[in-house]
Amino acid sequence: MMNEKYAPLFTSFRFKNGIELKNRVVMAPMTNFSSNEDGTVTDEEIQYYERRSEGVGMVITACTNVTANGKGFPGEFAGDTDDMIPSLRRLASAIQAKGSKAILQIFHGGREVPPELVPNGDVVSASDIPSAEGKPVPRPLTSSEVESIIRDFGEATRRAIEAGYDGVEIHGANGYLIQQFFSSHANRREDQWGGSLEKRMAFPMAVVDAVQKAAAEHGDENFLVGYRFSPEEPTTPGITMADTLALVDALSAKNLDYLHVSLMDFWSEPRRGVEDTRPRIEIIKERAGDRVPVIGVGSIYTADDAIKAFETGVPLIALGRELIIDPDWVEKIEQGQESEIVTKIDNSKQQELVVPDPLWNAIINTPGWFPGVE
Ligand SMILES: Cc1cc2nc3c(=O)[nH]c(=O)nc-3n(C[C@H](O)[C@H](O)[C@H](O)COP(=O)(O)O)c2cc1C
Repeated sequence: MMNEKYAPLFTSFRFKNGIELKNRVVMAPMTNFSSNEDGTVTDEEIQYYERRSEGVGMVITACTNVTANGKGFPGEFAGDTDDMIPSLRRLASAIQAKGSKAILQIFHGGREVPPELVPNGDVVSASDIPSAEGKPVPRPLTSSEVESIIRDFGEATRRAIEAGYDGVEIHGANGYLIQQFFSSHANRREDQWGGSLEKRMAFPMAVVDAVQKAAAEHGDENFLVGYRFSPEEPTTPGITMADTLALVDALSAKNLDYLHVSLMDFWSEPRRGVEDTRPRIEIIKERAGDRVPVIGVGSIYTADDAIKAFETGVPLIALGRELIIDPDWVEKIEQGQESEIVTKIDNSKQQELVVPDPLWNAIINTPGWFPGVE
């Protein structure tokens, strides 16, 4: 029997558009490097999701690229052509068959794409600023190309609807194209897409508009549209907490279904841009207020970590690495076995954990990323 202490995590949650989740735990978007060369999903990938979709209320998929030049990872599944709809549908159906809502994360890698993964090695971004020394120098997008990518986000949304997803999450986080336009580091443009804080928001806002328009045209009124962002960049220039609060205001005015704050540590504190020393998630949640629900994420390993995070008032919490390490994380709490939750990757359990080879190899060869891999 479940320990009463954790019961709040197992109450249902209703988005304002009507979609109801059975509980407050979401699977965070995680790239798995395991799709076919042609961009279709593999059996291994489907099995990996099936193994993790039963306990949580909602699964956000790995990111999928909306244009060919947005592909950010080897083995990423594609969402950039109608030919991909059957593959997209296979994934949505597999997740939904386990009783969870399926959200497709839509993305463009911008200056972070490996040149060998994109046509002609043409790496594009807002401006010609590499993300770090030694990284490719991107080619600034022309304004007609900017508009074309905005339309592509709308088209990927239509495909998500045709493939049966419950919603899409716009990937505006982790340093990829949408964040690049918002960033004073990556974006040095002086046209309508850059220059001031407001103009740096123009691309993210145009993407939101295109996605919402596609949702209204092709989906029913329940189709969810969420937005994920990273609250700060370490570089100067770069996104500050003050910039982020302005973004939260702009996003909150857009009638989005949720905001998702991308963090490795739920409790991380601001670097700069505000006097406030409370955790970023609390500042952001307060700013969003009643306008839009906020999903929190980052190093929530135990049932007590989860309830403590939930007590900040965020209505939903997401789990990434934890669901790879222990696919039964949610069920164990539900069954009163929270002390059995595994919090370190067990090197000998790849088969049992149902993790495809490319993801497994990335995990065990990247020290410091997953607990248990030093
Ligand atoms: C293997 C892996 C792949 C990831 N891929 C994505 C991704 O495609 N999109 C995204 O927004 N975040 C991605 N993330 C970040 C996670 O969604 C999450 O924010 C991060 O892992 C912190 O949460 P956790 O401590 O619960 O793992 C990835 C993380 C991991 C571990």
